[in-house]
Amino acid sequence: MAARWEARADLIVVGTGVAGLTAALRARELGLRVLVVTKAAGDDGNTRWAQGGVAVVMEDQHDPGDTVGRHVEDTLTAGAGLCDAAAVTTVIGDGPQAVARLRERGAVFDAKPDGLLERTREGGHSAFRVVHAGGDATGAEVERALLKATVDGRVPLLENHVAVDAVKTPLGAVGGLLVLDGNGVPGVLTAPAVLLATGGLGQMYQATSNPSVATGDGLALALRAGAVAADVEFIQFHPTVLYTGRGARGRCPLVTEAVRGEGAVLVDATGARVMKGVHPLEDLAPRDVVAAAITRHMALEPGGVDDHVFLDATSLHDMATRFPTVYAACVAAGVDPAVDPIPVAPAAHFACGGVMSSVDGRTGVTGLYAIGEVARTGLHGANRLASNSLLEGLVCGTRAAEAVAADLAVGLIAPARAVDPVLPSAPVADRDMLQRVMSRYAAIGRDAEGLAVVGSVLDVSTVDKQLESRELVEDAALTLAARALIAAAQERTESRGCHVRTDFTERSAAWQRSQLVRLTPTGQPVLADPVLAEGVA
Ligand code: SIN
Repeated sequence: MAARWEARADLIVVGTGVAGLTAALRARELGLRVLVVTKAAGDDGNTRWAQGGVAVVMEDQHDPGDTVGRHVEDTLTAGAGLCDAAAVTTVIGDGPQAVARLRERGAVFDAKPDGLLERTREGGHSAFRVVHAGGDATGAEVERALLKATVDGRVPLLENHVAVDAVKTPLGAVGGLLVLDGNGVPGVLTAPAVLLATGGLGQMYQATSNPSVATGDGLALALRAGAVAADVEFIQFHPTVLYTGRGARGRCPLVTEAVRGEGAVLVDATGARVMKGVHPLEDLAPRDVVAAAITRHMALEPGGVDDHVFLDATSLHDMATRFPTVYAACVAAGVDPAVDPIPVAPAAHFACGGVMSSVDGRTGVTGLYAIGEVARTGLHGANRLASNSLLEGLVCGTRAAEAVAADLAVGLIAPARAVDPVLPSAPVADRDMLQRVMSRYAAIGRDAEGLAVVGSVLDVSTVDKQLESRELVEDAALTLAARALIAAAQERTESRGCHVRTDFTERSAAWQRSQLVRLTPTGQPVLADPVLAEGVA
């Protein structure tokens, strides 16, 4: 039986991570009626797994000589030539105020006895500027505080409802959402603004730091709604998730980069340093450099074990208190970090690209907004700087709510008419097979032949299915996202940031540009002409 709801909301936020909840709270402050929708429980998103912290240079507490400008520079360097400098300046510049607002909402960061916040360092940062909570449980604290504020503020939260497709107005704007409840019953929610804050797509790979909800749903929904995506070939692999044995599947425990920031080093089975001589910053090089170096080392070096290396944290005296989450995961795996090097391997971590959006969340489709990992604002370029993502969620969440309020005030957006829900069909590949070919041929180290294999496997094995369950919505999203990624990765005949090609090993000046992806009328992802797509966000 289908349901049809007039949500009576000005704004539907999809997703309950840092970006979505920040947007919902700000929209509520601005007097908007907000409904938050999530396919799982409120705290099931990616945010709560974030460990390292929030990168921010606060006015009154920072390393000598550290400035917002230096944070901007580090972000641009990590982004390997593909960041949008204006977006970087805006997001980093808004950071201190965003963190202050988050603390006002109840998030408690680790502080020294004098009350100043503790700061750590991660890869690619030239200073100690990452503030953290619960040692290495920053995401959990941010999620806790924002969810509590959401509940306290009586912002309605619709759990266990997966967003399937946008509902359009006759003029082609987005004005609502087709959803499925936990029993597969479809319904329509209408509102003048739909804000996607659905997170990433780590589940496209066999091993990932992401939870099971990270299946690219928002990216697929936005593409189907007519939005353009960019930089989708740049999937960041975290250099160090805990290695728990051959053939790890699903979410693997993260070993935060801050462990290296505080002195741990990567070594191989012989004890040789993996990052020695690879980059001037050695173990604190940007993440793409470290993950690629580990992958090379595992494949080539005499001391390499073929599927993991080790993180030697034995010099750290306070692992159990400073990094309680990592410590607990190690102990559960039978590793005592005080005496044993921690076995680690790279795993899929973050989508640097996504739906083309401004830092205010506006996409090229009226009524559709996107923020956080699902969005591509230009902050991350070809490789995200560590701990810039919680920051982006905080800043862009606030800005997007303000943009929706402004667009409502001038009458730019309007709800669609409530219609009977009609479930769409879409190509769906088998998830296990997709994860296997993506991990084998489209992870770190890609070449034309392997990418073509993935393309053909996806072409021959996808079947059109009606999206009548959450699992099918997720599988269709993973299928579409993988196809988009393969199209962009095949075309980019260079290595840059997280896109490492073994057949084009150098960075090419001719490729210092983003590639845009859109769907053809029959639903195929194709590379869009950058000129035609100009001004889409
Ligand atoms: C980490 O703590 O190493 C991950 C933080 C991030 O991805 O920004």
